[in-house]
Amino acid sequence: MSNNRSFWVWINERLPISGFLKASMTEYYAPKNFNFWYFFGSLALLVLVLQIFSGIFLLAHYYSHANQAFDSVQGIMFDVKWGWLVRYIHATGASMFFLVIYLHISRAYLYGSFRKPREVLWILGWIIYIVLMAEAYFGYVLPFGNMSYWGGEVITAIIGSIPVVGDWLVSIVRGGPGLGGATLTRFMAFHVVLIPLLLIVIVVVHLVALHQVGSNNPDGIEISKKLDAHGRPLDGIPFHPYYTVKDIYGIGVFLTIFAIIILFAPTFHGLILEYDNYIPANPLQTPHDVTPAWYLSPYYAILRSIPSKGLGILTLGASIMLPFFLPWLDRCPAKSVRYRPVYFAMLLALATSLLVLGWIGMQPASPALLPPARIALGVYIGFFILLPIISRFEPVRPVPDRVRS
Ligand code: HEM
Repeated sequence: MSNNRSFWVWINERLPISGFLKASMTEYYAPKNFNFWYFFGSLALLVLVLQIFSGIFLLAHYYSHANQAFDSVQGIMFDVKWGWLVRYIHATGASMFFLVIYLHISRAYLYGSFRKPREVLWILGWIIYIVLMAEAYFGYVLPFGNMSYWGGEVITAIIGSIPVVGDWLVSIVRGGPGLGGATLTRFMAFHVVLIPLLLIVIVVVHLVALHQVGSNNPDGIEISKKLDAHGRPLDGIPFHPYYTVKDIYGIGVFLTIFAIIILFAPTFHGLILEYDNYIPANPLQTPHDVTPAWYLSPYYAILRSIPSKGLGILTLGASIMLPFFLPWLDRCPAKSVRYRPVYFAMLLALATSLLVLGWIGMQPASPALLPPARIALGVYIGFFILLPIISRFEPVRPVPDRVRS
């Protein structure tokens, strides 16, 4: 015991472990009224770690050669001991990552967590989301099933419609005129090294920014404004043990759901692993409908809803960039949806538009789906255009001084 103590003292004199744990856990005060929506930050962290570790095991057996990539993945599924489990963890993990992130982002919309003083935290989060989309795209191409191939073709072809430099850029991205071994090798470099490194760095900075400004909460009130005699927030509780226990509970529930999906419904009716990806890449055989994974489908619907390719890409780019400006678009004195009935209605419209776009993006292209896609796109963009105006004049219910327990 005393040996342990002296080692603790010795190491702390050389590395500020105990100071770090104090500042970020036992003496870091978080609002006492966190609810369901506050599970998803720690879960996002968990899935990031799961993806990195399952990815390392997959990499030990994957070949990025055009003629071997598909077979190496089948080898992982059938020949490598527990390979099927590792692959399903990674494939299901990708979908769960987006599910968790979408819930995490929804919380920010609900409680105005993007507002002052959390603008940088929000911008970093949105960059993470964009980087994550790139990560998922590159990963999707690697197994080189037929859907990987055609998904890769379609998206890289979009780059080709950029004026002047388009063709040159496509050949750089593909590593040749078409998708092949060179494409797989560079996509692997992005998927395995560049983007995970970027993600880790930005997530760490995201957490540093969070600890600088402290968490928001379901009431959207700053707890740092009401302090006790010791300078601690009256409505705050130490992160450890209160929220470490809460997060461990969330992790338990999450892992149970995760395991049930992996063990009983790993393809999830084509939502997690598409049926066309059980066929090797074939440049001569286009799948029935080339549609992206569910988590990117709203963007695909936006792209398809505009006949001019150039305008489509511009609109898609604008749709992805608009949320960056949210902290300055929302001007209501209250932050949380709890005190803003009109904002609540706007969020419902926004969520519905994204669900409609997401559904349309997964359907085969059809002229009948153009009008609903355009209406949904109008609602989505309309949310950001109207927010600065409506948020100035919307009715606000009385916001309490202290958080509601
Ligand atoms: C790998 C991805 C991410 C990880 C690991 C992560 C992690 C976290 C953690 C641990 C928290 C504190 C706990 C919580 O509030 O739930 C947090 C808060 C926050 N995150 Fe993320 N995050 C990620 C992505 C994002 C994205 C994509 C966005 C937005 C676009 C975002 C926006 C925020 C905001 C605004 C907060 C503060 C929320 C509040 O205080 O109410 N994060 N994040």
